[in-house]
Amino acid sequence: MARRPMMAANWKMNKTIREAQQYTAALLPRAADAEGVDVAVFVPFTCLHEVARMAEDTPVIAGAQNFYYEDSGAFTGEVSVPMLQDAGAGAGIVGHSERREIFAESDEMVARKTARAVEAGLLPIVCVGETKEERDAGDMWEKVSGQIRRVMEKLDDPDGDALVFAYEPIWAIGTGDTATPEDAQDAIGQIRDLLRELGGDDFAGAVRILYGGSVKPDNVAEIMAQEDVDGALVGGASLEVESFMQLVEAARETVPSDG
Ligand code: 13P
Repeated sequence: MARRPMMAANWKMNKTIREAQQYTAALLPRAADAEGVDVAVFVPFTCLHEVARMAEDTPVIAGAQNFYYEDSGAFTGEVSVPMLQDAGAGAGIVGHSERREIFAESDEMVARKTARAVEAGLLPIVCVGETKEERDAGDMWEKVSGQIRRVMEKLDDPDGDALVFAYEPIWAIGTGDTATPEDAQDAIGQIRDLLRELGGDDFAGAVRILYGGSVKPDNVAEIMAQEDVDGALVGGASLEVESFMQLVEAARETVPSDG
């Protein structure tokens, strides 16, 4: 069964509302014919409603970069899943390494957030990945598998299309030091095997796993060509429509045509 590729832009803490409007206005007509590919943009909270409004009734999914697992209450500074859905979001990033490393998000928090999103029908993009030190010490798999196990423990027999994973080795983020396509395939293939063990064949066959970390127009094709890589989560190269669209096009090339 072919999985639908996803090309996801993570703007991180960039763009004003006006810049977001300009970007979205340029992206929508170009992304309209990205048939067979899910195109998603993960934007700051301040732009989310506007981007979602502009993208309504188009194939582009507007998403948030973070959210909390409680729906409402005394959680100053947090935004809940129903609030994101109210703003028009269809998806949300969970457990990005910048959240884990800079804002001390634990595996437990990431797991709870993921479970809340799945329950509410907001597509979570769950990020996992190891630091350079962990990789050099041979602890990559212990770290990544632990992050995944914690998430899967909180989910009750999920469908493979209810969530997406993103393998983002921390040493490859924003460094230009991308994993080789073989490294990406090795890690993501291993993740899929673990998901088969934890969630069964149907789940593992359907769940999408993205690669993230210095994905650029000149390396995307070989990364996308890997068997278990279903797309990319992109920071720097997603900030300009032109380079993001080159990535979307590369994802589209991997979609078999019916003709
Ligand atoms: P870069 O593409 O800038 O390396 O960022 C990757 C990332 O963190 C996407 O979530």
